[in-house]
Amino acid sequence: MRSLLDVTDLSTDELEELCNTALDVAEHPERYSDKCRGKKLATLFFEPSTRTRLSFEAAMLELGGSVISMPGVSASSAAKGESVHDTARVVSCYADVIAIRHPKEGAAFVAAHSATVPVINAGDGGHCHPTQTLADLLTIKREKGSFENLTIGICGDLKYGRTVHSLINAMSRYKGTKFILISPEELRIPDYVRKNVLDELHIPYEEVSDLEKAMPLLDVLYMTRIQRERFTDMDEFERLKDSYILTIEKLSSAKSDLAILHPLPRVNEISVKVDDDPRACYFKQALNGKLMRMALILKLLGSRDFCEEPKVTIPGPTCKNHACITGVEQELDCLYTEREENGRRVRRCLYCEAEAL
Ligand code: NCD
Repeated sequence: MRSLLDVTDLSTDELEELCNTALDVAEHPERYSDKCRGKKLATLFFEPSTRTRLSFEAAMLELGGSVISMPGVSASSAAKGESVHDTARVVSCYADVIAIRHPKEGAAFVAAHSATVPVINAGDGGHCHPTQTLADLLTIKREKGSFENLTIGICGDLKYGRTVHSLINAMSRYKGTKFILISPEELRIPDYVRKNVLDELHIPYEEVSDLEKAMPLLDVLYMTRIQRERFTDMDEFERLKDSYILTIEKLSSAKSDLAILHPLPRVNEISVKVDDDPRACYFKQALNGKLMRMALILKLLGSRDFCEEPKVTIPGPTCKNHACITGVEQELDCLYTEREENGRRVRRCLYCEAEAL
């Protein structure tokens, strides 16, 4: 059994294979319409979702399988205080694969260790969102033809945007990737992404706040929403919410083959007038998400691999990150990994990657 908790759980060869399967599904849907006959997907969404949940469900239905899903948090046993551990264990009795979205960071990790079927992380708090990255990767492949030698601008909420963290993780593995990280000072990428990914892999990146200055350099522009629900200070959200609004005028200095991506939902960070520009790819990206989720379900249900256990784990005190799943699940061991980061030994929570202080 194998789960997908972060995008790096898949090798670059496997990502290539998923892209090829997704493209084949798009070309020959009839060949896949019976592949998951008799199999069930459970969608456990403890946070709002439109695209992710519906595209998972559509993916399973188009593979000939069926779907069971929770009616919503307030009508599920989570409202009675059931833990993620128990929920995952129970749902394993009813489904062959589980897709889970949860507001706590590391929740999918807990689910994968309790479930007896593969678990797919459909977003854990502000941490990761690997299946959105699958949609992003297929879009990049289709629009740019390759993952190599791309300058990628990521703009908006880089602190809480989980799709951003997974995309940086994925694209950092390709030759010639450069990032221009465009955000207000307060919404820069988290420390674990900077140290464990960008610094560790020596990826060239710049952190800037001016979108228009960066525009002419970009091959891909990944716009994101300011993540209202993750702010603890609502005055700060009000101050930052309109930091970036992409308009046709701002695109005047952009390359003619720029690909504009957005995981959606959009609030106001891209003017609707941009939708008709041939460089706007975000609606195609939503379709690509369904195709990649089909390829992923096929892979996980066909796989005999075992979920890899974390390599070095050290028990420790409760994680200090208020958004970490270890703060709410009972009897959950607090586990840390320890490694060298920029010449310093650093302990990070295994669930949410926050540094132990
Ligand atoms: C993203 C998410 O949930 O993180 N949406 C999605 O899954 N397509 C981005 C967002 O909510 O802004």
